Amino acid sequence: MTDGPEPGAADGPLWAGRLEGGLDPVVLRFSSSLAVDRRLLPYDVRASQAHVRMLGRQGVIPTDDADAIVAALGEIAREPVDGDATDEDVHSLIERRLVARLGDVGRRVHAGRSRNDQVATAFRLWAKDAAGSLLVSLRRLQAALVACAREDGELLLPGFTHLQRAQPIPLGHHLLAHAWALERDAVRLAAARDAADVSPLGAGALAGSSLPLDPEGVAADLDLGSSFRNSVDAVADRDFACDLAYACAMTFVHLSRLGEELVLWTSSEFGWATLDDRVATGSSMMPQKKNPDVAELVRGRAGTAIGRLTGLLALLKGLPLAYNRDLQEDKEAVFAQVDALDGALATMTLAVGGLRFDGVRMLAAAEDGLTVATDVAEALVRAGVPFREAHAQVAGRIARGERFSSPSAAEAVAARRGRGMPGRWRDQLADLEALVGSGAREPT
Ligand code: ARG
Repeated sequence: MTDGPEPGAADGPLWAGRLEGGLDPVVLRFSSSLAVDRRLLPYDVRASQAHVRMLGRQGVIPTDDADAIVAALGEIAREPVDGDATDEDVHSLIERRLVARLGDVGRRVHAGRSRNDQVATAFRLWAKDAAGSLLVSLRRLQAALVACAREDGELLLPGFTHLQRAQPIPLGHHLLAHAWALERDAVRLAAARDAADVSPLGAGALAGSSLPLDPEGVAADLDLGSSFRNSVDAVADRDFACDLAYACAMTFVHLSRLGEELVLWTSSEFGWATLDDRVATGSSMMPQKKNPDVAELVRGRAGTAIGRLTGLLALLKGLPLAYNRDLQEDKEAVFAQVDALDGALATMTLAVGGLRFDGVRMLAAAEDGLTVATDVAEALVRAGVPFREAHAQVAGRIARGERFSSPSAAEAVAARRGRGMPGRWRDQLADLEALVGSGAREPT
């Protein structure tokens, strides 16, 4: 059913015609993005179907042809991508397969479109989905922290500053501090999803098209919130990719801080918590070892995640408007960012869900006779002593070797009862449960 030359590696790239001969295989290997962007195939198919339906509605192509192209694209979406396909990118592969199926009818698909608006659209559709599914994974981790707090939250531990014992707090208060940090990440991920929610289709290579396109109709068909306002910006803009990469990097920073505490708390020196065997690892040589490798990997991958964000910003900073091929490099970083975070969220959810605490050791650390020093000084303030004087008095007693058994850690916590304070941590539990729900809620 094919007539005329086909695009694709065998018969030349989509842009064959102007340039003589084929691309040198070395250059094709160097420049092809197929190995990375093949993952956009279902999104590019959806965008191409919306584009073609619009071309049919607008009378740019016969509606029968539009219907045939939409159907063939649906079949292409279900076909695997050959590992050895040598197309320049996923967009070329799809058009090659379309033309192989439909011949001249398939050659109508690209009217009024460029790969520049095409790739931006597919990438945005993917990013919107990715942010949505990361939100679900993030909610699960929050739910695990909230459940852990509900179960063991009354245990007391010394909170730290400078990693020196500071003041007693309930475990629930501490765990929910991590959950609140993740709540801000949820808001960032939702914002990244909204940033992606714009359709660039219709911007063409950079300046739109003389054909009677309907970009708003295409945006609506793709369930994207709006259509672009400026065609040059539409094909040059990768802010949505940076927003997503940043939301992921920030989440990774929070996971890394949580991971660092898992490393500390499960050490023999602290002995406050043990990991479930399902998430712990052993040593090939030392039979006694039970290691928190997963928390260390999260900590390590956070560094890589920061690097990917930095790389993406550096990729963009010198680019003149509008599209430049440099932009092809954006996807590998963002795909890896999202994959790494999704794995880290799922693993940390398991790790938190399986934690067992040693409340006796935690309490012993919380009641070392020093963590209530501030409370002792504040008792003097209540009796009328100026705080600076009370501070000096208590410091002097400590220097002379005195230790305090009153108030107890529990009394000290109970006395700090303001909003957001350790003595009221259960109020936060209810607030977070309302936000997180069963683990699948949208940020409000
Ligand atoms: N593979 C390319 C990318 O990801 C698609 C756009 C190519 N456009 C072009 N003008 N060469 O950016």
